[in-house]
Amino acid sequence: MNDLSSVGLSDWLVKQCKQMGLNKPTPVQENCIPPILEGRDCMGCAKTGSGKTAAFVLPVLQKLSEEPYGIFCLVLTPTRELAYQIAEQFRVLGKPLGLRDCIVVGGMEKETSTEESGKCFSQFNFCLAVSDWFPVTWTDMVNQALALSNQPHVVVATPGRLADHIRSSNTFNMSKIKFLILDEADRLLEQGCTDFTKDLEVILSVVPAKRQTLLFSATLTDTLQELKSIAMNKPFFWESTSETRTVEELDQRYILTPEKVKDAYLVHLIQMFTDQHDDWSIIIFTNTCKSCQILTMMLQAFNFPTICLHSMMKQKQRFANLAKFKASVYKILIATDVASRGLDIPTVQVVINHNTPGLPKIYIHRVGRTARAGRNGVSITLVTQYDIHLVHSIEEQTKTKLKEYPMEEKEVLKILTQVNVTRRECEIRLESTDFDEKKEINKRKQLILEGKDPDLEAKRKAELQKIRSQKKKFKQKIQESIQRQKQGQLKRKQTKNKKAALTSS
Ligand SMILES: Nc1ncnc2c1ncn2[C@@H]1O[C@H](COP(=O)(O)OP(=O)(O)OP(=O)(O)O)[C@@H](O)[C@H]1O
Ligand SMILES: [Mg+2]
Repeated sequence: MNDLSSVGLSDWLVKQCKQMGLNKPTPVQENCIPPILEGRDCMGCAKTGSGKTAAFVLPVLQKLSEEPYGIFCLVLTPTRELAYQIAEQFRVLGKPLGLRDCIVVGGMEKETSTEESGKCFSQFNFCLAVSDWFPVTWTDMVNQALALSNQPHVVVATPGRLADHIRSSNTFNMSKIKFLILDEADRLLEQGCTDFTKDLEVILSVVPAKRQTLLFSATLTDTLQELKSIAMNKPFFWESTSETRTVEELDQRYILTPEKVKDAYLVHLIQMFTDQHDDWSIIIFTNTCKSCQILTMMLQAFNFPTICLHSMMKQKQRFANLAKFKASVYKILIATDVASRGLDIPTVQVVINHNTPGLPKIYIHRVGRTARAGRNGVSITLVTQYDIHLVHSIEEQTKTKLKEYPMEEKEVLKILTQVNVTRRECEIRLESTDFDEKKEINKRKQLILEGKDPDLEAKRKAELQKIRSQKKKFKQKIQESIQRQKQGQLKRKQTKNKKAALTSS
């Protein structure tokens, strides 16, 4: 394989890449950069850690150097941390151009409350209530609006905050952008816990139809049709040809555990890894902010250098915690799926799924936080008896069989009581901090901002929950009756075989 000039990049850019240790193009770069330079729309689907960011940053910088003006390129991404990471890549690679970038994300308000002291709670600086939040957000909006009106070359934004600016300000103009990029494009289009579709509509209404649209993710295929409606100009589509959807360097494991023993397994695993490897960083994914909080407190109680990242924390704290983890000040990061996409932290050797992800694509992104850019890594998923079907669908989608991780169950059982008591203590301590109440306030705040009635929404949610649980019961009944039928068939077959054996003898 040749160096990066073989994909059509100019000498100054190739030199800049070399300084950053990017010598040869990765397959996604080799295949996507030339059509982008030719002016085509592009959809690139390549495994996690395969260099998709540079695959869009480099051609944009090259085109910008030929015709510099602002605002030249708009990048949308689902999380604030990822927005900063992408802007940094633009800044470093675009340094010789004197690139001006602007990051537009929510939650950047100034601190208005004093930090709580204490080992645990100084990190757990939760989001503010509605009354604290509005005025400071306004200041934050003004600063960002000013930055936008200064004509940066590249704007990297989360859709919600950028849509707010478009709705409320006329000091900047996106009608001349040349590039619209959606990183983690499938996430931006799906209607997950954060629904970006309305904000995307607002943004798409102000960008020109004549533009180049670039869409990248490790999991594009589910949302292909929706994506094609955004990249309208017969996009060049490239997908890595590999059979598996996770990287070969990743050793994928599972541990089958009863729910009650899960935390003891977790503590034992971490103890093992920290005893054996001084320089290993570990990310533990869990499904809710509360679980993230409790697990962090619990591991801290066992003196593991642990820090957390979830959406109920203040943004300033989120950035600070991530920075400390990246710098290996803390070796263990416990996070919700807010950290599952795009984050590039080369020191991460292990990803542990404290809960089995409900969707294979969530699994793909989570485990993709390790084994990046050709490095090795291990992922371990804690699986309870209720999650086995989820593992099967993960295996089916990723075309990889998860192997059991060997553990000394005896050793785990030795610490079981201590771990469960410690967890309970942490739960009680968290309950005394009105965590749930703050979560409720934040949810209501979000709904009000979305123009919805929180009480009506709560009613709708309760009804939905009722329907879901009825559906679940119905499904269970069907499964039980299928099981009974199968058992009956098996019994009948066995008796028939016995009879046949008797008559033949
Ligand atoms: N040509 C290259 N040679 C060597 N390393 C590279 C090259 N291109 C990118 N990298 C490095 O690979 C790592 C992963 O890149 P990147 O974050 O762009 O992956 P990604 O494909 O976007 O992954 P994800 O799907 O998780 O977002 C980064 O540390 C980046 O510096
Ligand atoms: Mg990426």
